Amino acid sequence: MMFGPCTKDLRHEEPLTKPTSRMWGIRNLRRKAFVVVLVVVGLILLDQIYLHVWLSSPSTQFQRSLHLDDVRQLLRAGQDASVTTILFDPVILDAWNRNSHVEVPGVCIFLCHVVGPLTFAVTAAQLRDKPMFLSRLAQLGFTVTIFENSEGQRSHVFLMRQGSPLHLVVLHMKPADYLRQYALEGPPHNVAQVKQYITKDSWNHMKLDRAYERFSTKDKKIDGVDLTVPSHVDSFLTDHRNSHFLPCNESRAGYYNLKYLKNESPEDTRFKHKAWKLIGKAKVLLDQLNIPFWLSSGTCLGFYRQCDIIAWSKDVDLGIFIEDYKPAIITEFEKRGLRLIAKFGKESDSLELSFKEDEVKLDLFFFYTEGATMWNGGTQARTGKKYKYVFPAFTLCWTEFLELKVRVPCQTEEYIRANYGPSWFTPVTNWDWKTSPPNVRENGVWPEAERSEVIVLKDV
Ligand SMILES: *[C@@H]1O[C@H](CO)[C@@H](O)[C@H](O)[C@H]1NC(C)=O
Repeated sequence: MMFGPCTKDLRHEEPLTKPTSRMWGIRNLRRKAFVVVLVVVGLILLDQIYLHVWLSSPSTQFQRSLHLDDVRQLLRAGQDASVTTILFDPVILDAWNRNSHVEVPGVCIFLCHVVGPLTFAVTAAQLRDKPMFLSRLAQLGFTVTIFENSEGQRSHVFLMRQGSPLHLVVLHMKPADYLRQYALEGPPHNVAQVKQYITKDSWNHMKLDRAYERFSTKDKKIDGVDLTVPSHVDSFLTDHRNSHFLPCNESRAGYYNLKYLKNESPEDTRFKHKAWKLIGKAKVLLDQLNIPFWLSSGTCLGFYRQCDIIAWSKDVDLGIFIEDYKPAIITEFEKRGLRLIAKFGKESDSLELSFKEDEVKLDLFFFYTEGATMWNGGTQARTGKKYKYVFPAFTLCWTEFLELKVRVPCQTEEYIRANYGPSWFTPVTNWDWKTSPPNVRENGVWPEAERSEVIVLKDV
């Protein structure tokens, strides 16, 4: 009822605003265009101002910035409890590493430029053995929020006091000799509490599982604060960039075993043990040569499907990018008892090396990048026919496979689907490498003149 008269009034005015002549129409159009332009310019300006404010003072969006005193108190609690708190923030370490000569007394140059929380690391063992550490922090006025992984082990700690939060990554030393950082996940109220102080980017970073090489530390003064940092910041940063870790999916493996696993024969068990030893040995040698490798073909399928070696696969398959190839692979492997039994292709095309030890074959497939694909070659020794196995381009992640820290393609399922098709989960025992894989392409024939170079078979 109350809106009745108002709408009526507007209706009355309607005829007045209607253009009465052509001239009126044009003037009106100009006026409209002017208003539209004004609004657009205004919006662009507002956006620029917003962007400027947002970029130049990132901490304003969280209403808090870092207080150096919070950092000092954290370090003090660590000292009191004999817990080493290591500066572990890749962004800050990188900035400091590149500009460590810049030091202005009394000015917080590096630490205070953190966006969101400042990250430190502590080891799980110290956190467990020195319960005084966290209680001391609480005494010093910090609100302590603890996150645990799915197995109930502490994974992350957030500390809130005056300034923006401090974040502790809890590093777990693994028997396979690496440091594991668990993805940040936890009860929704914890997540909500912490999320309001964290940028989306750093949240996405914390959601990843990671693996680090063991590293040593040194003491350094940064912004006037005595900190502990990784001894070799460069190699730490490289390690960090490649630290994404994919845990094996144990529930999938459990389901596979329930559905398909027959009783293992003693022969199966023997083969699996030999294959495992071979992967371990290849890892030591390739690590020494500084050559990154990943689990490929059947070995990768075994990892992804059953977290294990496929007993009937009869060989071990590893992938290496051709850019990382070194002839020293052959000499070093042979020195350690891995006999070269076949060499197919050449560095510029379809290289593949096969070694054998203790009746188990180890294949090294070299991968070539071509546009959005990566492929490795195959050669049929008898006919000289060439094959190409084509994969969508992939990146590499760490995983733990039978207590070995090794790499797998991060896009593991796409990789396996390319190689084995959509029914990769169903075991197949009569696999033919020339015809079975859906990603195999015929790739011509090696010229007669090249055969002796590109098809080398050794009598063993
Ligand atoms: C593990 O595998 C199962 C079955 O394939 C799948 O449903 C589940 O999402 C996987 N878990 C993770 C964390 O990827």
